Amino acid sequence: MVDVVTIIDSRSGKSIELPLLHGTHGSPVFDIGRLYRELGYFTLDPGFLSTASCHSAVTFIDGEQGILLYRGYPIEQLAENSSFLEVAYLLMRGELPMQQQLDNFTALINHHSMINESLKNFYLGFNHDAHPMAIMVGVVGSLSAFYHDSTDIHDPAHREIAALRMIAKMPTIAAASYKHSIGEPFVYPSNKHSYAGNLLHMMFSVPSEEYVVDPVAEKALDLIFVLHADHEQNASTSTVRLAGSSGANPFACIASGIAALWGPAHGGANEAVLRMLEEIGDISNISKFITRAKNKKDPFRLMGFGHRIYKNYDPRARIIRDMCHKVLGKLGDEQDPLFELAMRLEEVALNDDYFIEKKLYPNVDFYSGLIYRALGIPINMFTVMFAIARTVGWAAHWTEMIGEPEQRIGRPRQLYVGPQHRDYQPIDQR
Ligand code: ACO
Repeated sequence: MVDVVTIIDSRSGKSIELPLLHGTHGSPVFDIGRLYRELGYFTLDPGFLSTASCHSAVTFIDGEQGILLYRGYPIEQLAENSSFLEVAYLLMRGELPMQQQLDNFTALINHHSMINESLKNFYLGFNHDAHPMAIMVGVVGSLSAFYHDSTDIHDPAHREIAALRMIAKMPTIAAASYKHSIGEPFVYPSNKHSYAGNLLHMMFSVPSEEYVVDPVAEKALDLIFVLHADHEQNASTSTVRLAGSSGANPFACIASGIAALWGPAHGGANEAVLRMLEEIGDISNISKFITRAKNKKDPFRLMGFGHRIYKNYDPRARIIRDMCHKVLGKLGDEQDPLFELAMRLEEVALNDDYFIEKKLYPNVDFYSGLIYRALGIPINMFTVMFAIARTVGWAAHWTEMIGEPEQRIGRPRQLYVGPQHRDYQPIDQR
C-alpha cells in the first residue's frame, strides 16, 4: 500500500491523495506536485521552514539529536580519522576511497591547483582594502571565461573536471586575495604540501624566506575544512543549485554560492563572532550583551548562536571547541582571553531561559574564528576559509542535481500581494 496524505479542499469538496515519501533518515515528505494541477493551490513557505527542495543522497542532519552524516558517516568519525581530501572524495563520489583512488584523486587536485596567469590581472583591479570575499565572488565567477573544454554540463566527464578544478583552485584564489590585500607577491601552489598545508604555504610564505608549514596548524585547518565541507540544503548550497538549475556555467554557480555564504546569518558569522567577542571585550560585560541579544528592539544577536536546523548542540561546534583547547595549547595561546570569554559567554547563554526556550546553541562558527586567529589568519579571511571547504559540498550538490534524469529549472511560485489589474494613465491625467 502506498503511504499517502489526503488533502480535502473544503471549498470545492474535492480531495486528493498525495504520496508520502520516506527517505533513509528524517521526516517523511509529502509530494505536492499535483496540488496545483488538481486543486489549483500553491503552498507558501517563506524561508523554506517546511519545504524540501530536492532529493539528495549527500548529507543528512538530525537537528533535534545533533547528528550530521556525510554520505552516512558520522562527522565525529570523519573528524577523528579522515583528511579533507578523503572527505572531498566521499562527498563527490559517494564512497570512501581505497588508497589508490585517494592517491589518484589527490594527484588530480594537485594537477589543477594553479590558476591561469592572466587571472592575476583581475586582482589588480581591486583596491588593496577590498574585502577578500568580494574578490572571491569576482575572481571565481571570472573562471567561467576560461576552460572551454568543460562547458557541456550534461557530459559527466565535463562535470567531473569542472568540479575538480573548483576544489583545486579555490585555495590558490583565496591565498592570492590575501596576498593582494597585504601587497605581497602571489605564491604558486606546491604539490609537496597537503591541501591545507598548501593554503598556509601560499598565504604565509614570501620569496625572500624559507617557510615551514606548522604541522599543528596544518592539521587544525584540515579538520576545520572537514567540518565545513557540506551541510545539505543551506542557503549557499541552495543558491548554487538554483543558479545551476538554469544550466549556468559551474564557476558562475559557485560564485553565487560564495555571495550567499558571505552574509552574517550564514558563513559571515565566523567573522561576526570574532568582532562581537572583541566588542564584548571582557567577561564583566557578558550580561549586558546577553540582555541586548534578548531585546527584540535591539538588532544585536549573539553571533555563532542558533541554527535553522540544530535545536541541540551543533556537533561541529563541539569538535571545534575541543580543538580550540588543543590548538591554542600547542600554539602557545591557551590563555587567549577571547577563548576564555567565548567559553564563559557560551556557559551564560546555555543557562539563560531565553536561549534554553528557543533551543539556541553554539553553531560551527562560534569557535572556528578563534582557531583561525591562532593560525594567524586575519578576520576578513575567515569566511573565505569557509568558502574553500564548502566548495566541495557545492560541487557535490551541483553534480548531483545536474545528473538527475528529471532535472528542471528551479522556479518558486509566490503569493502576489501587489496592486490589482489597473490601466495605464497618461502622465498629465494622473
Ligand atoms: N541571538 C538572539 N536571539 C536569537 C538568535 C541569536 N543568535 N538566533 C535566533 N534567535 C531568536 C530569534 O530572534 C527568534 O526569536 P522569536 O521566536 O522570539 O522571534 C528565535 O530565536 C528563532 O530564530 P529565527 O531567527 O527565527 O531562526 P532562523 O532559523 O530563521 O535563523 C539563524 C537561524 C539565522 C542562524 C539565527 O539563529 C541567527 O541569526 N544566528 C546568529 C548568526 C549565526 O550564527 N549564523 C550562522 C549560522 S550557521 C552557518 O550558517 C554556518
